[in-house]
Amino acid sequence: MPRPTALAAWKALQNHYREVCDLHMRDFFAHDSGRFERFSLHLDDILFDFSKNRITDQTLELLLQLADEAGLRQRIDAMFAGEHINLTEDRAVLHVALRNRSDRPIQVDGRDVMPEVRRVLNKMRRFSEQVRSGNWKGYTGKPIRDVVNIGIGGSDLGPLMVCEALRHYAKADLGIHFVSNVDGTHLAETLKRVDPETTLFIIASKTFTTQETLTNAYSARNWLLGGLGDTEAVARHFVALSTNADKVAEFGIDPQNMFEFWDWVGGRYSLWSAIGLSIAVSVGFERFEELLDGAFSVDEHFRTAPFARNIPVIMGLLGIWYTDFFGAESHAVLPYEQYLHRFPAYLQQADMESNGKRITLDGETVDYPTGPIIWGEPGTNGQHAFYQLIHQGTRLVPCDFLAGAHSLNPVGEHHRILLSNFLAQTEALMKGRTEEEARAELQAQGMPEDALQRLLPHKVFPGNRPTNALIYPRLTPRTLGSLIALYEHKIFVQGTIWQINSFDQWGVELGKQLAKTILPELAGKEKVRNHDCSTNGLIEAIRRLREE
Ligand code: F6P
Repeated sequence: MPRPTALAAWKALQNHYREVCDLHMRDFFAHDSGRFERFSLHLDDILFDFSKNRITDQTLELLLQLADEAGLRQRIDAMFAGEHINLTEDRAVLHVALRNRSDRPIQVDGRDVMPEVRRVLNKMRRFSEQVRSGNWKGYTGKPIRDVVNIGIGGSDLGPLMVCEALRHYAKADLGIHFVSNVDGTHLAETLKRVDPETTLFIIASKTFTTQETLTNAYSARNWLLGGLGDTEAVARHFVALSTNADKVAEFGIDPQNMFEFWDWVGGRYSLWSAIGLSIAVSVGFERFEELLDGAFSVDEHFRTAPFARNIPVIMGLLGIWYTDFFGAESHAVLPYEQYLHRFPAYLQQADMESNGKRITLDGETVDYPTGPIIWGEPGTNGQHAFYQLIHQGTRLVPCDFLAGAHSLNPVGEHHRILLSNFLAQTEALMKGRTEEEARAELQAQGMPEDALQRLLPHKVFPGNRPTNALIYPRLTPRTLGSLIALYEHKIFVQGTIWQINSFDQWGVELGKQLAKTILPELAGKEKVRNHDCSTNGLIEAIRRLREE
């Protein structure tokens, strides 16, 4: 496969960029009343409006040509066919099998994985129903009142984000907590709020070797035994979500209480697997299934819709347009939905751990930008924090705005105010405010000419800031499942065009290895010499502070 920059469509896009980069979206809209119709797509009850982007019909055509030339169709087919597209780990990439709600078999290495997927789902159903109904009793015979998920990265962010997003549907008298950070404060503050007799720990770790998770898990175990005084209690209070049965047994968790998944599920794509157990316990298994249904619908759309009508394909291509041709460095995700307050954080791992790569599948260093920096906060809070930079700063920050037409908590005028802000921001980012408009406004306020001249440049907004809008009726488990899957496939599209492996994460390893060397040095007495002088100096300074 030639490099993306060598493809005809890439070269055509470079030329096209020079022709359109100074065009203003204001003019696009002024001359084209059909732009919204043409540049928006529906999937189930989600509307994706991409008309407020710096694109023309030709831009879209060229981007679609790029997707074709980059072999996106073949790559999608390869993923769904269970091919080992995760080359560096020699694994299939099949989170789509976890939410395959059809009878279609999905093969990995000649074996249909669907019977195993269904078996674990049934086990999750039985267990979550037992916990929710109070039939799962703790060691002293009391029902479970609190669940603590201990995991990190994909074994935390996905279930945490979903539990927060679906809090409206959660069982009110069951506390769901997440402990991820190896900073003991995270565990200690959580344990202050729960009782060993009525707490269930879910140890979520694909590998069951992650230092942070195992450290937290052992400390939680000690805390439990301190409270209940009998190792027999572990079986009633600890379950594991993992691919590593041996390590789970070594920890002392009953294999009966292990919920499996498989190496073809990437950590950051795992909330649909057993890693979603805390979600099923919190909102009930039927709602967990609705989440899977929403993702499945997007999978079918992604697999079968022509690229010109394919939402994740368009999302991905727009990102390529800004990253590789406009030089945008980041992408903001702005949910006007308080329940989605962890969605940007979740997408940081999903996107940046997937596409934060600089080596192609052929082992060459890329000579074009890849994965953007993902960031964001819920609207309207972001408006009063960082939107200034998006409106008037020197950087181009493409944004996604998400909102439900209805609130799950209708309170007075709140939701209409929220939505009016959502709409006003996308309009303002597109239109900006010209010098003439700013002048007219200041004159209308009766401002003297000399003061007006001084203030005028500050009151001008360039506009032409691109935004996508994703709107849906209300946040349901199904809608949430669809939204997550749209972003997963967007990431896939971009990884394909950049020719990188979106499914490994070697870059996380180096820090982990160095931490293992430093750990004993922090407790040592002899002079530290084997690092650079900054690291040596810091280790010794920390040692001194810890002795005081
Ligand atoms: O951060 C690196 C990583 O390997 C992630 O990909 C993964 O989600 C996380 O660590 C946790 O890994 P595990 O589930 O194996 O504990």
